[in-house]
Amino acid sequence: METQILVADDTGIASAARLLRQGALVAFPTETVYGLGGRADRVDSIQAIFAVKGRPSTDPLILHMPGPDLTQAVAGGWLAAPLPSLAIPLTKAFWPGPLTLILPRGPKVPPEMTAGRDTVAVRYPAHPGARKLLQAMNIPLAAPSANRFGRISPTDAEAVHTELGGLIPLVLDGGPCALGLESTVVNLVTPLPEILRPGAITAEAMAEVVGIPLRESCFVACMDESQIAPGQLASHYAPHTPVYLSIDPIRKFHPDAFHLLFQKPLGQVSTRTLFLEPGTDQQGLARELYRSLRQADAAGCKIILIDPVPEGKWSAALRDRLTRASSGNAHWDGVGWNLTPRRPS
Ligand code: TXA
Ligand code: MG
Repeated sequence: METQILVADDTGIASAARLLRQGALVAFPTETVYGLGGRADRVDSIQAIFAVKGRPSTDPLILHMPGPDLTQAVAGGWLAAPLPSLAIPLTKAFWPGPLTLILPRGPKVPPEMTAGRDTVAVRYPAHPGARKLLQAMNIPLAAPSANRFGRISPTDAEAVHTELGGLIPLVLDGGPCALGLESTVVNLVTPLPEILRPGAITAEAMAEVVGIPLRESCFVACMDESQIAPGQLASHYAPHTPVYLSIDPIRKFHPDAFHLLFQKPLGQVSTRTLFLEPGTDQQGLARELYRSLRQADAAGCKIILIDPVPEGKWSAALRDRLTRASSGNAHWDGVGWNLTPRRPS
């Protein structure tokens, strides 16, 4: 199959909507990462998403909504009543935007989309191209990130093409993603709200809105595989080249490594080095992280070594993704590079 790339203008969006209506899959831009969209009301489209990604059918998809109104989504059969009390205040504060809520699933959502669960993840994205596409469809789209399962999420149309070229008919090009890391996922069906995946909407920002603290259910804290929520696999968001995280800022360059630095390097640096300026709000770092990992991967080195994540608004999300990218590989042990895989205990 030939994969076309079209700019996400009115013509491109009309072509995408036509294909989607017929049941085909289309990759589209969001403010976080690119999504691989299919009709949420068609089991064949949902099954095609799992097949194209190579994703296990046990890992549920996010429902991308054409509007922010949850009551309307209940009336339309996408969600079920009663809605958790925090759902409306959180959507009022953060939608459209990078916040995904786990809510009770409505009868319109095929169980194939949620791996048989009676909950469904919903999100109303902020990217104008995504919103226009969803409005043109007027039904929600099931959409995971537009990468092969376990790999790095694509943050521009070219990266989508690298991941899924030949497998889908169309990529809508809406430019580089403004945020660059996947949405914050919050479970609202548990007695206390729980962050399943950290992102741009932080625990602090949500606590300010809802008046209670939000727990972070980080996968590192629960390595017992039976205990973890779907999508919280230790190895995820990973380049092909093994990734190692450094405890201390990298000062010595490893002959076999590509280095990703967040501290300005002193003196002469290895040519196989990328420096990402953390900046005060870390947004630039988040936006460039996946692109840099792809670049590091393409350099053909034996390993990728990464500086410690600096403290800041995005540090929880950045640490989460990098820890998964390294899937428990060893790091600088204070004496030398310890490259034997460190299995989480
Ligand atoms: O920013 C994003 O969220 C991007 C863009 C495209 O919207 N999408 C994305 O989708 O990252 P995906 O499928 O790669 O990640 C969805 C996450 C997975 O970790 C999945 O396991 C979790 O949400 N999830 C989905 N439905 C769930 C449910 N019912 N209960 C718990 N977790 C759920
Ligand atoms: Mg993903």
